[in-house]
Amino acid sequence: MARDRSQFRCAECGALFAQWAGQCTACGAWNSLAEHRAPSRAAERPASAGWSGERAITHLRAASAGAPARLPTGSTELDRVLGGGLVPGSVVLLGGDPGIGKSTLLLQTLARLAQSTRVLYASGEESAAQIAARAQRLQLGDADLPLLIDARLEAILDAAAGCEVLVVDSIQTLVAEAVASAAGSVAQVRECAARLTRLAKTSGVSVLIAGHVTKEGALAGPRVLEHIVDTVLYFEGDSSSPYRIVRAFKNRFGSVNELGVFAMTEAGLKEVSNPSAIFLTRHARPVAGSITMATLEGTRPLLLEVQALVESSPLGNPRRLALGMDGSRLAMLLAVLHRHAGVALFDQDVYVNLVGGLKVTETATDLPVLLAALSSLRNRPLPADVLSFGEVGLAGEVRPVRGGQERLGEAAKLGFKRAVVGKLNAPRKPIAGLEILALEHLGDLADVFARLTDGA
Ligand code: TYD
Ligand code: MG
Repeated sequence: MARDRSQFRCAECGALFAQWAGQCTACGAWNSLAEHRAPSRAAERPASAGWSGERAITHLRAASAGAPARLPTGSTELDRVLGGGLVPGSVVLLGGDPGIGKSTLLLQTLARLAQSTRVLYASGEESAAQIAARAQRLQLGDADLPLLIDARLEAILDAAAGCEVLVVDSIQTLVAEAVASAAGSVAQVRECAARLTRLAKTSGVSVLIAGHVTKEGALAGPRVLEHIVDTVLYFEGDSSSPYRIVRAFKNRFGSVNELGVFAMTEAGLKEVSNPSAIFLTRHARPVAGSITMATLEGTRPLLLEVQALVESSPLGNPRRLALGMDGSRLAMLLAVLHRHAGVALFDQDVYVNLVGGLKVTETATDLPVLLAALSSLRNRPLPADVLSFGEVGLAGEVRPVRGGQERLGEAAKLGFKRAVVGKLNAPRKPIAGLEILALEHLGDLADVFARLTDGA
């Protein structure tokens, strides 16, 4: 007969252990294990057990009724990242640093939706007066918006009956009765998200959940929420700049890497429908170490400035610092530049910055970064009408990136005259007003650079 053995559960991540230990081996938290009596078999009913309790088999053909109907949120930028609007019965997690504007965006969106649908704004974080003060600022003071100030998950689930859209702000403040650990612990966050998801799937309400990102950059409950919800949006941006970017990180109902761009103003978040115009800084006169690149996040090309500073280093091990792009990729690019273009930077500090606080994950930054570094090293400005994008391989080859035509089109639209790109990105049909300088290999980089800067 099996003996009734006690278990130890981590209050942070919910992992179970047979023995007590000072550190949880699952999440690394110290002193978080507490004794836990396993519930009897009969009482054990995981939150994930079937939606209706019975095993009804349906047929794919019967279930697929075309594309899901979408509920437009009234914001083109938000609809774009959602993949065309809110899907009924979907769960969207909006993550971001505290103070970035999650509550603002959710309140603005919900107030707009409240005009035509039944909604509920549940907050476990702020008082009604605080929310009213924010609404006043957003000029939504007289919006007809039902509020629920409660951190108890059960109360929220009750109140959400009959709603079409539910906002929960934030998941870290919620407490489910069944879980003993404190609000914000991974076990709580996971249970609350699972129960909200169940509500969405059974009743068809769309749930928007705000979630704070921890200092380490992870949503509490390392990645647990990402699996549970349908869509994960991240709110990014520099606190020093008014621009905010909402990026789809996971989306069951649309493409990822789609961007929505907003500006935080005195009266809330305003949409930015022409983002290239804002990320592009126009210098009064050309400066060394700066070039414009065209990036394609999702489906929309975006022009932004890449800056590099190359400065002789007093250190034996010179510094490489990259803001907005991957730092190890920068080190790799500098090695390729040395080997294949003969430009040595091993005694130089190299700093690279993508202006505007945008993080670019695609490889099209390679070529512009090298051009900016070269420009800074030689202290020769590139003309302001030059644009670049392209991936650089370890063999020094310049590779094409997807969407070349869209990127070049955007550049021509904004008045750029010359584009330095990989050979395979050169358009078959010439683009009016845009000269293409196509590179096959980094060996030709110095020539192209000389051609660009001689005329300047
Ligand atoms: P908030 O939505 O409370 O952030 P989060 O919910 O992500 O923690 O945003 C708060 C910040 O936004 C705060 O620093 C003030 C600023 N803000 C404005 O600049 N204009 C506005 O109209 C509002 C409502 C907030
Ligand atoms: Mg908030």
